[in-house]
Amino acid sequence: MITKQNTSIQYKTAGQFEDTRFEKIHNVVFQSSDEASICVAQEIADLIKSKNADNKLCVLGLATGSSPIRVYEELVRMHKEEGLSFTNVVTFNLDEYYPMEQQSVHSYHYFMHQHLFDHIDINPENINIPNGTVSADELHQYCIDYDLKIKEYGGLDFQLLGIGRTGHIGFNEPGSHYNSGTRSITLDHITRVDAAPSFLGIDNVPKKAITMGIGTVKKAKRIVLLGWGANKATILKETIEGKITSEVPATYLQEHNNTTFVINEEAAEELTRIKTPWLVGPCLWDEELSSKAIVWLCDLTNKSILRLTDKDYNDNGMSNLLVEGGSAYDLNIIMFNKLQRTITGWPGGKPNADDTNRPERATPEKKRVIIFSPHPDDDVISMGGTFDRLVEQGHEVHVAYQTSGNIAVSDHEALKFAEVLKDINPDNSDIDLIINSLQCKKGDYEDTLSVRNLKGIIRRKESLAATRFVGVPDENIHFLNLPFYETGTVKKNPIGQEDIDIVANLIATIKPHQIYAAGDLADPHGTHKVCLDAIFAALENLKHNDYMDDCWVWLYRGAWHEWDIHQIEMAVPMSPDQVLKKRKAIFYHQSQKDGVMFQGNDTREFWVRAEERNNDTAQKYNVLGLADYAALEAFKRYHF
Ligand code: F6R
Repeated sequence: MITKQNTSIQYKTAGQFEDTRFEKIHNVVFQSSDEASICVAQEIADLIKSKNADNKLCVLGLATGSSPIRVYEELVRMHKEEGLSFTNVVTFNLDEYYPMEQQSVHSYHYFMHQHLFDHIDINPENINIPNGTVSADELHQYCIDYDLKIKEYGGLDFQLLGIGRTGHIGFNEPGSHYNSGTRSITLDHITRVDAAPSFLGIDNVPKKAITMGIGTVKKAKRIVLLGWGANKATILKETIEGKITSEVPATYLQEHNNTTFVINEEAAEELTRIKTPWLVGPCLWDEELSSKAIVWLCDLTNKSILRLTDKDYNDNGMSNLLVEGGSAYDLNIIMFNKLQRTITGWPGGKPNADDTNRPERATPEKKRVIIFSPHPDDDVISMGGTFDRLVEQGHEVHVAYQTSGNIAVSDHEALKFAEVLKDINPDNSDIDLIINSLQCKKGDYEDTLSVRNLKGIIRRKESLAATRFVGVPDENIHFLNLPFYETGTVKKNPIGQEDIDIVANLIATIKPHQIYAAGDLADPHGTHKVCLDAIFAALENLKHNDYMDDCWVWLYRGAWHEWDIHQIEMAVPMSPDQVLKKRKAIFYHQSQKDGVMFQGNDTREFWVRAEERNNDTAQKYNVLGLADYAALEAFKRYHF
């Protein structure tokens, strides 16, 4: 059931929405989460004001997590700059970890005050957040009272939600009943894995929580769910297009008649109308869409490109592409040549060769290259083979490590180095302080500055060992230590002018012909995205300089994702020997081997992920009918 009533006008104009037979929840897709959050904040502000005009209280259900942060930021701005008042607002938060002290930096109590309540004029008595310190005996009654209190206020006028990868809303994990009320719940393993980075390890994540129930949430008069980033794409598709099931509790929202999902393009990637629009209705076929469709058709029919027939196109929603393209034969040849031409063993351009159909220019023969690496090992993990070829083929290769990566070094690794230092230098009291603070550190407490410094040095030396192995002189290695990263916690500062200037200065000094950067957009709050934003902003500042006319930017993807085949514009093959050399280069990053701090839900080591990914790309090319390589590294060009 698609419902659009009461949807504020701003969603209809700014967002992109089409009814399709696949979708059971009204949703709007925005280009950026920023723009989308501002629209949601506007809807909340409008509601508060209209309630105020009627002399009524406005009862808001609020969420925590990364998704609503920008909405809260905008509400705070409206309060400070536009006089939006919260004096008629009563809030009920969705959930809280259990047990949890209110003053802990991990509590949702802390989160809400930090992001919203401390900056607005809400009456503190109107704030309700489940209390993580209630005793086990009192918990059951406490939860019943929480629901009763919401009811006494006349129910929730508006409920803001995020969605977990398990499909949870609030902390209603798979298995939750559609009629459930506020209660205590055991957290799903995936939810704990997702929370692990901010708790500095899964062992520190509570196992239980208090959450508003599905029944409580569903009684809200209006619901808006926010979803940002590619890692929400699969669960959003299941929720919006799938059957209602307790295995994906968010699907219960299909039964609510005034819900809107506000999502960004990356989060919408898996929706049928975005992923395979030819199955939904007529399409405007540009080169990118036809390539995407042909790769999909090969996968569906289990055929290589040159074996696709008119019937295959006609039977699978692509008949108007066929009309535009002439015949399967013509379409197939164009696609095959396009893919064939992405393959090159000369990522810096092949000297004295006709470069009309090559990904890179032949001249200048020797190029200046900057490889930007967000963390100190992304260069070798993501493009170790290409990196090696660029050096081997005589280009002037520079590597710029954007962040120190210090928080990803474990305490026992740091202690090992501190003890080596101590043995060499027994009288140095600074080393004693480091050893002492590492030995006394409890759980997820922040590191002291000197411990962070030591951890940063460990990563710098590992990087130098790897780049020396690849053959780059030390003077071409640049440790940028961008300030946004240096918070000592998982939560980073937003990108600042200083970060952009550091990146821009390096580009202006080297005047590169090629820049390689991590094009990871999967996580809107992640370090890779911030590092990329710093590069994009620097390019914007510098683009009027003549030397920038000769600068081409190639985006690689980090350890987590790869470009889709139709997006690839340069594919660099690797021989089995080169695969092994890349593996060795990754091994130099010892602090990131054998059980890293931020493993995520993929337990493979980085070198395994890299090899499997490059092998997978090679296999995909082969299945499409191209040559059979051991591995391929993939790049997409960015035009600024
Ligand atoms: C938070 C909550 C959770 C989050 C969900 C998504 O109060 O109830 O359901 O909304 O886990 O979290 P983020 O936004 O961090 O991806």
